[in-house]
Amino acid sequence: MKKFLTAIVQLLQPHVPLSAEEIERTLELPPDPQMGDYGFPCFSLARHWKKAPAQIAAELAQRLQPTPLIPTIRPLGPYLNFFLHRPTVIQEVLEEISAQGAAYGQSKEGEGKTVIVEFSSPNIAKPFGVGHLRSTVIGHALHHIYQALGYQTIRINHLGDWGTQFGKLIVAYKTWGKEEVLQANPIRVLYDLYVRFHEEAEQNPALEDEARTWFKRLEDGDPEARRIWQWFNELSLKEFQRIYDRLGISFDYYTGESFYNTMLEDLVRRIQEAGLARYSEGALIVDLTPYNMPPLLLKKRDEATLYATRDLAAAEYRYRTFHFDKMLYVVGADQKLHFQQFFKVLELMGYDWVKRCVHVDFGLVKFNDEKMGTRRGNIIFLEEVLDKAVALAQSIIEEKNPHLEKKREVAEQVGIGAVIFADLSSRRTKDVQFQWERVLNFD
Ligand code: ARG
Repeated sequence: MKKFLTAIVQLLQPHVPLSAEEIERTLELPPDPQMGDYGFPCFSLARHWKKAPAQIAAELAQRLQPTPLIPTIRPLGPYLNFFLHRPTVIQEVLEEISAQGAAYGQSKEGEGKTVIVEFSSPNIAKPFGVGHLRSTVIGHALHHIYQALGYQTIRINHLGDWGTQFGKLIVAYKTWGKEEVLQANPIRVLYDLYVRFHEEAEQNPALEDEARTWFKRLEDGDPEARRIWQWFNELSLKEFQRIYDRLGISFDYYTGESFYNTMLEDLVRRIQEAGLARYSEGALIVDLTPYNMPPLLLKKRDEATLYATRDLAAAEYRYRTFHFDKMLYVVGADQKLHFQQFFKVLELMGYDWVKRCVHVDFGLVKFNDEKMGTRRGNIIFLEEVLDKAVALAQSIIEEKNPHLEKKREVAEQVGIGAVIFADLSSRRTKDVQFQWERVLNFD
């Protein structure tokens, strides 16, 4: 980009009282590429010339002459935006890639620094949905990018392996489950049990109490509850592992929510001692009204800890253990508020490093216009998507290149590559409508 930056600096320099370095340092990337490729904010000039920044941007736009490299210059509010000549950019980038090969884009900017990328994080006993696929694919790409920049990266899978849903699952399994049936097709069957629990609980609310009791037993270390929970974990992880192997993705740690259980009591006590917590309707909360947010729940009325409590403990533990320079949470945009809340609590606890934590959010995967929830029946299992993609790739090979060697292997690579590509090629923060035609579009 150096060449283009220099071209912009040369355009601006005769018209502003700034050095080349100052101009280059001032240039920004607009939040949306539709606005331009580079933006020059006019605020500092406004002070200098005692004129409104927007007026300066408009006047500069009049004065600057477009060039072949920078064919369009447009003011937008207080910014003067520059559009690069796309075909030239593309040509330059491709030439650079072909000259540098695998070394393209690598640097040492991250030397000696550590980045934690938390991603994928599916829930035990629930299907690995296409929403988790987005986190997995984006997180994996970020891991590669940070590695290429010289950072040490730590990949963490924050498995959803704790919470009241395990009380429900234990009740459902004990009431309607059969060991052989579950062994044969664990996640499908666990998922059906979970759906059934919610259906039956609507008629019979006593089931909810039973589930609460079982979760409490699990939290208290009851051997039977632990054994069933452990078994659900092993069965689920085996299935997740199969998916990760097919996607070619791995992790450094599979430390799920339950990993932090032993740290919660001490954490909650410290938050209370710091005067940050209070009881409200029997639950222990951190009041966040001064920050225009609903309260963060530390403990429910029945003393059970929550998702947010475990996230606070996880953040502390990871900082203590890894002294990260950055920590990325690759999680759907529907959890934005959750991250804002617990980042705020970390800040209130006095942790300066919360500034290094980022929620890398992404749009939801919508299916028939409804968010894919696991409580209802409408969910697409990721493995079905992968299998279907591979089958389609295979039929294309049969049609176009039937004598290809290692057909099965190629079909697996192409099919899965297509699924990953469909995901990465859509804008991260936008919602995506799940469409087979799009995912399996080999054009
Ligand atoms: N298991 C959660 C889910 O499926 C995602 C966990 C996100 N990570 C976190 N640190 N809260 O919704």
